[in-house]
Amino acid sequence: MSTLQNDTLIRALTRQPTPYTPVWLMRQAGRYLPEYNDARRRAGSFLALCKTPSLATEVTLQPLERFRLDAAILFSDILTIPDAMGLGLYFADGEGPRLERPLRDEASIARLAVPDPAEDLRYVGDAVAEIRRALAGRVPLIGFAGSPYTLACYMVEGGASEDWRTVKAMLYKRPDLLHRLLETNSRAVSALLNAQIEAGAQVTMIFDTWGGSLPAAAYREFSLAYMEKVLSRLKRGEGSARVPVIVFTKGGAPWLEQIAAIGCDCVGLDWSPDLGEARQRIGKRVALQGNLDPMVLLASPEEVRRETEKVLESYGSGAGHVFNLGHGVPQLAQPENVEALVAAVHELSPKFHR
Ligand code: CP3
Repeated sequence: MSTLQNDTLIRALTRQPTPYTPVWLMRQAGRYLPEYNDARRRAGSFLALCKTPSLATEVTLQPLERFRLDAAILFSDILTIPDAMGLGLYFADGEGPRLERPLRDEASIARLAVPDPAEDLRYVGDAVAEIRRALAGRVPLIGFAGSPYTLACYMVEGGASEDWRTVKAMLYKRPDLLHRLLETNSRAVSALLNAQIEAGAQVTMIFDTWGGSLPAAAYREFSLAYMEKVLSRLKRGEGSARVPVIVFTKGGAPWLEQIAAIGCDCVGLDWSPDLGEARQRIGKRVALQGNLDPMVLLASPEEVRRETEKVLESYGSGAGHVFNLGHGVPQLAQPENVEALVAAVHELSPKFHR
């Protein structure tokens, strides 16, 4: 960690003072960048990009060549875990992720094994190591995984869903089965995150994209409890080498206090809560990441700058804020708008750190 030229992200995540607010963006590498689409064409598919460390490295660095971002995020996907479990991941054009063999019965869930990150997911650790070498200490590298519940959503449903009816039906009909799957997933997630940390990831983030579709009590029992288990198994290191953890539940605003209590360093917010109010609720315990509405990136650079300033003002003065969107960069975002966002954070935030 001492080799980092820019450690503002690490400092903000641990609520130490910084000269300005660090900024990175979920999905900062992606289809809004022409050079990403070019790399994907060369790779042949999105999965080939993920599974070829030299290409994953190239794509990870692309947004950093354009914008003054304060972090890199590993180019990969949360669904590499179900893929390594043999569920047959593929991406049908324009339809999002699909699994050939979704889990619908007791036998298939009982059969499921935790993938060994050194074998079936070796390309992930290899990519982390190669990205660290390529970054040469410019900014920290964020590793990530999906939450056990979010993975279960795709694994049971077989793909994206409007209402997640199949996994929720299992939750009510066979909670024992879902618990069994979540236990397996939580072991797979902690093993993969530990492998990323070992390979050089300096921050870890858990994406709980679908926990927010649950009622409060079910969220605690089926999503939050398993993220807590993951955190309890992480080899986070100590002192200056300690790896901060960000937990992001989309739609998690009603439960911020509970999320802040599972042992994370930072809570990621989607675009819905007022950042200042979230800070009042949990800002004394954890750092906060977010929370500009991604759709602002479909407006003009002036509007992006104005909305960025509102988010900075909402957090107010002091340490503990990592600027981000409330969800990923939309595919139709103009790169000049992303440029305007990153520039605005660097230009407008120093006054909140004096
Ligand atoms: O943020 C980054 O730049 C790092 C890379 C990253 C990707 N996926 C690359 C990707 C990360 C952190 C993810 C996480 C992820 N993947 C989540 C959690 C965050 C979220 O978005 O809610 C989820 C639910 C997935 C599963 C997934 N992968 C979906 C639903 C899709 C299809 C939707 C879409 O936007 O196309 C993907 C594909 C995917 N993952 C793409 C990228 C750049 C697009 C693939 C392509 O067509 O090139």
